[in-house]
Amino acid sequence: MTAQTIELEAQLDAIRQEAQAAIATAISLDQLEQLRVKYMGKKGPIPQVLGGMGKLDPAERPRIGARANEVKEAIQADLDRKKTDLQTAAIQAQLEAETLDVTMPGVYRSQGRIHPLNGTIDQVLDIFVGLGYTVAEGPEMETDYYNFEALNFLPDHPARDMQDTLYLPDGNLLRTHTSTVQIRYMETNDPPIRVAVPGRVYRRDTVDATHSAVFNQIEILAIDEGITFTDLKGTIKVFLQELFGDVEIRFRPSFFPFTEPSAEVDVQWKGRWLEILGCGMVDPNVLKAVGYDPEIYTGFAAGFGVERLAMVLHQIDDIRRLYNSDLRFLKQF
Ligand code: DAH
Repeated sequence: MTAQTIELEAQLDAIRQEAQAAIATAISLDQLEQLRVKYMGKKGPIPQVLGGMGKLDPAERPRIGARANEVKEAIQADLDRKKTDLQTAAIQAQLEAETLDVTMPGVYRSQGRIHPLNGTIDQVLDIFVGLGYTVAEGPEMETDYYNFEALNFLPDHPARDMQDTLYLPDGNLLRTHTSTVQIRYMETNDPPIRVAVPGRVYRRDTVDATHSAVFNQIEILAIDEGITFTDLKGTIKVFLQELFGDVEIRFRPSFFPFTEPSAEVDVQWKGRWLEILGCGMVDPNVLKAVGYDPEIYTGFAAGFGVERLAMVLHQIDDIRRLYNSDLRFLKQF
């Protein structure tokens, strides 16, 4: 063995030892990767040593080559072992950081509830969806056309006064009923129609136990060939029975510009009759306003006061309780 061979072997051993020491002190996977590049890369110290083999006796070259491979394998083994160690330590640290103390007391979060008005709206819509109706909505700010004119209220008809209207400075108004959506829906849909429309409405009303200036209605509208008043009565009866069970109801003749004939329906409530809806056969003039032929199509419509329904459903004595957000009241639902 020549002195040069001994020298190269010593260099390889030194590399091995230096790498081993460096790998042992690595504390992150990043650092380890840097060491891998440093010791195992093409520009690392081992290829450099092998470059010096040219000066060796050819018979000794395989010996150095073999030694270089041994060193490489040893360094690779060190890198692999260290990598596993660091990964295990990282998982361990994460597990410790995420440990749950199952003996800690829980945090109480009070549960929200559905407001009785929303609950009533949901119940009513569920019943009509079950009868094949679609749910639609419309805007709360309206024009005279949709709130009155298209619904067959003549310009100076006293029926406009029945609904004390809140007018806006620009000439628009806050809708006084959801009947507006009958027109909007028919304008954009062809018969047959079965639609239920929940929405807020506004009136210049004096607030008392059964009246509010802002309240909720649900409108229904059915248009088809051959619909009669019998269909209207049957639908209303089935609906009220589904909602209230066995409660006494009565139909009373009434007047609305947009229906002919018209009726109002009362239910027995706290020993008296409480009006809960208006209804009727859609007036031919309304059908004409949206371009339907009243010789072919007939239909019925109805508008329910949601607050009134909620009051009957839940034995609520004063409509104002529905708006006060008093938790002692709301928690009962
Ligand atoms: N829009 C009426 C009101 O607010 C209620 C009403 C009556 C709606 C008869 C209707 C109907 O659809 O056919 O007083």
